Amino acid sequence: MTAVAEVAAGWPRSVAPARPASMPLFPTLWPSMMRGAASAAGLPFPLTDPGRREFSFARYGIYAIARALGLEGREVLFPAFFHCVELDALLAAGAKIALYPIGADLQLDPQAIADRIGPRTAALYVIHYAGFPAPIRALRTLCRDRGLALIEDCAHALLSSVEGQPLGSFGDGAVFSLPKSLPTPDGGIALLRGGWSEGARRQRQPRRAWLAAHTASLLLANLQMRHLPAAAEVRAVALRMGKAAYAATGAAYVPMGTPDFDLAQADTTMSALSRRILMRQDFATIVARRRRNYRYLLERLDDVAPPIVGALPEEGCPLFYPFRVARRDAVLARLQAQSVPLGEFWPERHPMTPDGEFPGVNELRATALWLPCHQDMTQEALEWLVLQVRQAVLGER
Ligand SMILES: Cc1ncc(COP(=O)(O)O)c(C=O)c1O
Repeated sequence: MTAVAEVAAGWPRSVAPARPASMPLFPTLWPSMMRGAASAAGLPFPLTDPGRREFSFARYGIYAIARALGLEGREVLFPAFFHCVELDALLAAGAKIALYPIGADLQLDPQAIADRIGPRTAALYVIHYAGFPAPIRALRTLCRDRGLALIEDCAHALLSSVEGQPLGSFGDGAVFSLPKSLPTPDGGIALLRGGWSEGARRQRQPRRAWLAAHTASLLLANLQMRHLPAAAEVRAVALRMGKAAYAATGAAYVPMGTPDFDLAQADTTMSALSRRILMRQDFATIVARRRRNYRYLLERLDDVAPPIVGALPEEGCPLFYPFRVARRDAVLARLQAQSVPLGEFWPERHPMTPDGEFPGVNELRATALWLPCHQDMTQEALEWLVLQVRQAVLGER
């Protein structure tokens, strides 16, 4: 029996799980979330924090924080494993970047950071990868002792806490990217502990065509997931029309998660529609489902697609299940051929990360992938996902 046949044969159900109609990589927008009364009561941190500023994307919040902290021309210690757009936001604000190492296990060593602090260092930038907390208390102490500003990148870490305190509440500045965790078409939140020195500025709304296309896409992804006939085709047309309408306005097309930082959009605020959708979320259920789904994947994939971080911390809200595989590109190709939703965990090596200097980061970029564990994943979808990953990895051994 081949390895692949063994996986299928060993499946604990009498029938192998059926392919779902579609399985989105990010949460979808349920039509009910667009209807009915909405109230801000019960919104979690940081969504009602009086010191917050709202942006269309987190990247513009990072830029605003860097400017408010006066980081132009000053050095920021920055993790050597990163997406790209967060670095571009700091560079656009004029910060000078010095990298610190991240291990192949996504962990950082506070001592390695301390060793890099020099006379020009003004701030430390920390990413809570996939919603798993960095050792934020130790880092806050280090920053206080050495007179540095601490910026928490919580783009992945909405709803995660440590010992009862939410991530994003430790730093002098913090930023959140809502559409990664929630079905909002846009939304970045920036916090500044010391307050924003300049008064409230008038911010522009995101373009209507862009917003309409993204909202339609999120809604149609939901209908597609729930087997509505022709939802996939309608979704593709809606996105194409939205992109064309947006391009006609002369502005760059910047969907969520793209690497582009566009200074011309730095003053766009979060849409009223996203604010409304936020008020229709059941946050406790979102956390519970994400935690449950992560544990489900961990238990069933530990032997073939081991997690990069491992066990879920008590108050962590995972954004996804990051795992490592030796033959990453081959496994990725097999899974993509089956339309398995799968994220690439930043394989591109940025020119700022010189070869050899950060072996842990090189290993991550060569081996890391991620699977969704969001609130819309059903038991059947998870079962199918696990089977696909097991087959793909064992098929490459
Ligand atoms: C770690 C990190 N920080 C910041 C961002 C920027 O978020 P946004 O797409 O909302 O600008 C991203 C986007 O992928 C990210 O991965």
